[in-house]
Amino acid sequence: MRPDLLTVDSKKLDAMSREELVRAFEVFSRTGSELVAYFSALEARIVELSRELERSRRLAAIGEVAAMLAHEIRNPLAGMELSVSVLKRQGLDGYQRELLDNIHKGIKRLDIIISDILSFAQEISLKMSRTDIKELILSTVSSLSHRLEEKRLKVKIQSGLSVEDGYIMIDKGYMERVFVNVLDNAIDVSKEGGKLWINLWKTQDEMWISVEDEGPGFSESALERALEPFFTTKTTGTGLGLAICNRIVEAHGGRLILENTEKGGKVSICLPLS
Ligand SMILES: Nc1ncnc2c1ncn2[C@@H]1O[C@H](COP(=O)(O)OP(=O)(O)OP(=O)(O)O)[C@@H](O)[C@H]1O
Ligand SMILES: [Mg+2]
Repeated sequence: MRPDLLTVDSKKLDAMSREELVRAFEVFSRTGSELVAYFSALEARIVELSRELERSRRLAAIGEVAAMLAHEIRNPLAGMELSVSVLKRQGLDGYQRELLDNIHKGIKRLDIIISDILSFAQEISLKMSRTDIKELILSTVSSLSHRLEEKRLKVKIQSGLSVEDGYIMIDKGYMERVFVNVLDNAIDVSKEGGKLWINLWKTQDEMWISVEDEGPGFSESALERALEPFFTTKTTGTGLGLAICNRIVEAHGGRLILENTEKGGKVSICLPLS
């Protein structure tokens, strides 16, 4: 809101009655305090925006360096994997084989980290298609069945969508990655024999998919920073899972919301319908 400027004609000033003068000063002082409030709000917004700018510049720089490093590391890593595979075919005793298996596992883990870094850094170009969201969620859940069975976890899918309502324009491959990452995290924090809830619903112009677990919930710092790249509280995590999800959901014009409920942690994905 821009305050109007008060102008007083100096020739008319003498002719002004006392009340008119008092009224003019009242308007003047009100306008003055509105201006002060307006400028201090503006100042606060400028500080906030420059912090955001600095943060996104820093993140972009981290992304660039990480992508460069990932490219450089990938070639020697492929050579190492090949050498380990050749060595494994030699006549080895149990101890030697165990050592080589450990090296192989390490190489595979590094390769996953590099793929995550590259997919975080790469441009997202969406191939949108009309997709049955329920079907996509069911197939994602079944692709994680080995992990779910390992922990004897039950997944409850609650959908308020009719068959026709369940269709949405998305990039199926990218959105599947979002569901896999979110469910992977939920499985990580779940206790054996626990439950996961997936809820689907629609508002007039948005589709919502939420995943709720019975874990300890997001820590305070995770609630604030889990969407940033490389934020992790896990010993084996890269901290790129949710950062990648957030990029994908934002590329769809949607948003990712992290919160805690009385059950545990909850991640909601909100996608625009058009
Ligand atoms: N369901 C959840 N409940 C509680 N905390 C969570 C949950 N999901 C994510 N987090 C927190 O957010 C952090 C970041 O998650 P993110 O998926 O980005 O990385 P990560 O799982 O640690 O590693 P990566 O996914 O790269 O293997 C986690 O380390 C954890 O602290
Ligand atoms: Mg993760």
